[in-house]
Amino acid sequence: MANEKTRNAPITSAIISTDEEFRTVFREAAAEAALEVVLDLPVPIPDVSEGHTRDLKKRAPDLIFVDLADEPDLGCELAQAITDAGIGRRLIGVGPLQSPEFLLAAMQSGIADYLSKPVTADQIVAAVERSRRALAPREAAEHHGELYAFFSPKGGGGATTIATNLAIQLHRLTGRRTALVDLDLELGGAALFLALEPRYSLIDLAGNLHRVDKDLLSSYMATHESGIDLLSAPYDPRKAEAVSDQQVTEILKFLKRHYDYVIVDCPKALTNRTVRAFERADGVYIVSQVDVPSIQNIQRSQPLFAHMSRGRPVRLIVNRYDPNSEITIDDLEHSVEMEVFWTVANDYDSVSYSTNSGKPLIMRPGSVCARELEGLAARIAGVTGGSDSKSRILGSVFGRLRGRLGSSPGSKTSEAYLMPPTAAESEGS
Ligand SMILES: Nc1ncnc2c1ncn2[C@@H]1O[C@H](COP(=O)(O)OP(=O)(O)O)[C@@H](O)[C@H]1O
Ligand SMILES: [Mg+2]
Repeated sequence: MANEKTRNAPITSAIISTDEEFRTVFREAAAEAALEVVLDLPVPIPDVSEGHTRDLKKRAPDLIFVDLADEPDLGCELAQAITDAGIGRRLIGVGPLQSPEFLLAAMQSGIADYLSKPVTADQIVAAVERSRRALAPREAAEHHGELYAFFSPKGGGGATTIATNLAIQLHRLTGRRTALVDLDLELGGAALFLALEPRYSLIDLAGNLHRVDKDLLSSYMATHESGIDLLSAPYDPRKAEAVSDQQVTEILKFLKRHYDYVIVDCPKALTNRTVRAFERADGVYIVSQVDVPSIQNIQRSQPLFAHMSRGRPVRLIVNRYDPNSEITIDDLEHSVEMEVFWTVANDYDSVSYSTNSGKPLIMRPGSVCARELEGLAARIAGVTGGSDSKSRILGSVFGRLRGRLGSSPGSKTSEAYLMPPTAAESEGS
């Protein structure tokens, strides 16, 4: 029996079925289960087109009911394609009583639940409740900080610049304990950005994690004058090999228990370490410039993002934004089928001065970039009002995006929701 909290959580759905009898029962059940139907596709599976999947992606339903009765195999292929594209959070198959072999194949294509026809409204309501429970945020008994991973699809996109400044601003804005993790273990530069000379690095923490408690943890972190704690990359890149991917996961889990915000500056490539950070992330931020190689890399990486981030939002931040650029924000959004969550202006002088002096941009307010980073932190912390307050914060360079950014933080249109973790993956997160 679902508790009140999960019962009341808003949840959306899409249905793909031409079976009138099922569609009628589904509508009845949706009303009863407070399930909003955001897309209704009465089309046979072979006729599901790219346009339909685009619609699905745009509406980002939590649940997708797919009627597999007429075309079970093709239906599984469609489920696989939907899963690969990172659309929806839970797929529910509907069809005749099936063999265990078929159900296994269906599960492997991403179908999380299967209802045998004739389906009753009660069975649909029960399936919705199962989904609500599966998708509900896990309430850990222990402290559970928020982890955000920053990744640039093309090196030099600005992930380190944004992650570093954002960590400081989130801490200043909320007063919450904030850790910055430099996961670019080969040549990460976060310590230099902050003009810190850490005694220890992530490698040292990895080697001692089994005996580290809260007090000991602080000795591995370098505290910046702003109040954030840095877990640095080693100075010597050869040491990076000493840490296993599993240790990276353990460290991130550990930090989430001891900090309110864990900001992870990911390596430049989609390495195993990046994967580990995405898996632990409550949100992944792709920091990109607007140029053809970046766009192509986002497109190429999308299936991987979908696979790796499992149900957490993946958001796009444009860095070094130039309103006069040949490629517009609209072009970018269209090409990668993601809305731009935020933009940070190109401001070479301020950024290079801050990098070279080790004085983070955000600590020298006044530049357009600093104001935009303040706005971004406010949005991520969820402390902005509507678009009015936002437009007051933001500089004029930002004017043309204002309407687009009017949506509230977490708005489904500004991000791609990806597949939920499996039970095994959720364990102990
Ligand atoms: N908004 C910006 N305006 C101008 N230069 C920037 C901006 N953001 C980053 N840079 C510069 O771009 C370069 C790469 O930034 P960095 O944050 O190290 O990228 P990444 O971590 O993605 O490799 C740095 O020299 C930095 O000073
Ligand atoms: Mg970097």
